[in-house]
Amino acid sequence: MQKRTKIVDVLKSGRVDTEVVVMGWVRTKRDSKTVVFIALNDGSTINNVQIVADVVNFDEELLKQITTGACLSVTGKLVQSVGAGQSVEIQAKEIKLFGACPQDYPMQKKGQTMEYMRQYAHLRLRTNTFGAVFRIRHNMAIAIHKFFHDKGFVYFHSPLITASDCEGAGQMFQVTTKNLYDLQKDENGKIIYTDDFFGKQTSLTVSGQLEGELAATALGAIYTFGPTFRAENSNTPRHLAEFWMIEPEMAFYDIDDLMALEEEFIKYCVKWALDNCQDDLAFLNKMIDKSLLERLNSVINTEFIHLPYTEGIKILEDAIAKGHKFEFPVFWGCDLASEHERYLVEEHFKKPVIMIDYPKEIKSFYMKQNADGKTVQGTDVLFPQIGEIIGGSVREEDYGKLLARMNELGMKTEGYEWYLDTRKYGSCPHAGFGLGFERLMLFVTGMANIRDVIPFPRTPKNAEF
Ligand code: 4AD
Ligand code: MG
Repeated sequence: MQKRTKIVDVLKSGRVDTEVVVMGWVRTKRDSKTVVFIALNDGSTINNVQIVADVVNFDEELLKQITTGACLSVTGKLVQSVGAGQSVEIQAKEIKLFGACPQDYPMQKKGQTMEYMRQYAHLRLRTNTFGAVFRIRHNMAIAIHKFFHDKGFVYFHSPLITASDCEGAGQMFQVTTKNLYDLQKDENGKIIYTDDFFGKQTSLTVSGQLEGELAATALGAIYTFGPTFRAENSNTPRHLAEFWMIEPEMAFYDIDDLMALEEEFIKYCVKWALDNCQDDLAFLNKMIDKSLLERLNSVINTEFIHLPYTEGIKILEDAIAKGHKFEFPVFWGCDLASEHERYLVEEHFKKPVIMIDYPKEIKSFYMKQNADGKTVQGTDVLFPQIGEIIGGSVREEDYGKLLARMNELGMKTEGYEWYLDTRKYGSCPHAGFGLGFERLMLFVTGMANIRDVIPFPRTPKNAEF
């Protein structure tokens, strides 16, 4: 038997007048009196191959069963197409039905809402839009590894189960084998964990950064790329309870090195998509967001703005004075909401912004303290449509200052001795950041909701599939 060729290769090959075997799912079927036209897709490309079947050559029953969603193997001759829309098509000689597709197939009708598709996340993968999104997601993962590998960064695997809270926000999912129906408590009413699986309270990680710092202060430059979990009850189009984060950490980087790397990294990923996902991006540009390609091109061709937090607050206050309305209040010390971030990026600068020197109260304990005693060397990269896409900082490398900050915040140092050891033994200046993979995916695909750029989203009250 002849070997199957992927549709992407069939369309590229231009080997007309040769026989090919393709396999895939029917996107559409059109009948005329004498011929049937089938658009077949196998996921290797957004493009379908057109199959032309002469009615006389095939069993009527078989042709009837070829409906949207059915899975086929087709053997036939690749020929130049006379019809509009494709350069080649396949003149079917033999059709084998792998799986028929009954009329109640949920992906039957075009133009369903994204909410509808989400209910069928197991089948939406077979649509054009989600095919494009997940081919791009794969490409972005490859781009990320290539970027860091080419720079000599070591891919480092931080643990998913942890006993520390990197961000200190207490948004952690507990990991336990305890019988929740019969919890033993001590005389103060606190749950006893000594008999739990790990002998202490553990959770799913909110960030691999702390372990990343251990590795960077040994290997020089590392990155992590893995799942991250946050039990924040945020039902927004930009938050997931389970998302993927890329966290590079670099010894001997100062804030300028850090910002330069953040900018270079995002531009590299966006350019990779433009260079390697042309068909999928063209489709999304046409069907999802007409300004997508323009936005992607504009980002790789502009320099990001560097903006101290204090100046950013002034710009927002000026905007309010001129009559601009925000839902959330603006004052020095406030944590910026995404409406504020997007105002700065989309309306004021019309460029990506790297905001720096945040008030220490709204940032994590590990950020390097500035001499003013009020601000820290945190960097958030703010993007059009998205808001915060990267959060990073220079790390406080001074043992005494770090310890003092932990005490100030009422953090227990117990359980963080290993982290403090990096400052105790041969401490070095270092910095790092975290890029939310799905936030990058939102930007690159133009999709509006983060639930639509991860295969099976986990959000409050939702863990289907
Ligand atoms: O700003 P965050 O909380 O920073 C950290 O976790 C640091 N430890 C990173 C570091 O310096 N190594 O998160 C980093 C990024 C955010 O900018 C955002 O893109 C993404 O992770 N992110 C989320 N993405 C989806 N759903 C959520 N719930 C997210 N929370 C953060
Ligand atoms: Mg952040």
